[in-house]
Amino acid sequence: MSNKKLNLSTTIVHSDYQPPEGFSAFPTAIHHASTVLFKDVEAMRARSWLNKSTYTYGLHGTPTSFQLEAEIAHIEGGTHCLLAPSGLAAITLVNMAFLASGDDVLIPDNAYGPNKEQGAWLQRSFGISVRFYDPMIGAELVDLILPNTKLVWTEAPGSVSMEVADVPAICAAAHSKGVLVALDNTWSAGLAFKSFEHGVDISMQALTKYQSGGSDVLMGAVITRDVELYNRLMMAHMRLGFGVGMDDVYLVLRGLQSMKLRFNAHDVAARKIAAWLKSRPEIGKVLHPAWEDCPGHENWKRDFNGAGGLFSVLFDEKYTEAQTDQFVNQLQLFKIGFSWGGSHSLCVSYRMASMREAWQEKGILVRFNIGLEAVEDLIADIEQALDAM
Ligand SMILES: Cc1ncc(COP(=O)(O)O)c(C=O)c1O
Repeated sequence: MSNKKLNLSTTIVHSDYQPPEGFSAFPTAIHHASTVLFKDVEAMRARSWLNKSTYTYGLHGTPTSFQLEAEIAHIEGGTHCLLAPSGLAAITLVNMAFLASGDDVLIPDNAYGPNKEQGAWLQRSFGISVRFYDPMIGAELVDLILPNTKLVWTEAPGSVSMEVADVPAICAAAHSKGVLVALDNTWSAGLAFKSFEHGVDISMQALTKYQSGGSDVLMGAVITRDVELYNRLMMAHMRLGFGVGMDDVYLVLRGLQSMKLRFNAHDVAARKIAAWLKSRPEIGKVLHPAWEDCPGHENWKRDFNGAGGLFSVLFDEKYTEAQTDQFVNQLQLFKIGFSWGGSHSLCVSYRMASMREAWQEKGILVRFNIGLEAVEDLIADIEQALDAM
């Protein structure tokens, strides 16, 4: 049917404009879609959303999200990846794919807070037993495994208290009893720690951090090397309806190109600032995995090849919370806020006793996210805030 015979309200909807061939540029095109078109009824009936070499419905992906999935899988050293609307949604995806009523899951006590909160909710409302374990347990995890244990979470390092778990020992213990291991690999962005080379079955990352790099996008990813696990994740992903917006996917794709350089810059700056803090009398311990003060430092040395910009300190125990709050409030360049991986430096004070029953350390814990500002300016900012404390 020629458009010339149709009314304007129809031709506005069914434009027959064809752009010229031959356009070539670096950015991935942003393919938005809810409806995906089939060329005929047979093609529609033959569709399978499980087959990622075809398109069925926007929820299951467009070329834009498929590209990001492929790139994240590549960085992590996996073969399959699924995107989720946030890092926490990616944790949910893993739990929903591998747990059912009557199962048991082990979560480290230093895990990302909402992961633990979700675990408590699974126990309260969904008949799943959830137990929190000492993150430094290593091979002894084997003693915690019950016949109904289906999943072990690990997070290295814990993103507030920074203990670096012995991931290979935890994986070996879990695998000896046929139990899957999922790692929250957000801290290393899949750059500084290669999950699958250390025995992990399912890696999860919050792409909200270094991958986006702009403190403006929420997104998560789950990565695996195992087709069977991937198929279970795909079913859960579909049932949960976890779509992502293609504009956000584009922003993450753009961020990825500079991620390694940014990650290294955050790492270099954070180590300089951690070294400076270590020399200050106000600081009791520097909980940076590259420092001996940090539990699991040996595991970091053995298993990691970098550190990024996130670490914590424990103030000397003589300082009260009122004083360390004053320190945080006094900072000018460091802003108060959660998350990390963006250009701006951040600082957060934590009440560890309310987060961890077994917390033994003395002194108030303050976490720093070192951004991309000049190190000497950040040190000067911390210095003036310490002096005012
Ligand atoms: C270690 C860790 N995992 C997961 C998440 C969740 O990411 P999102 O904020 O995208 O839900 C966060 C967020 O701070 C985190 O710190």
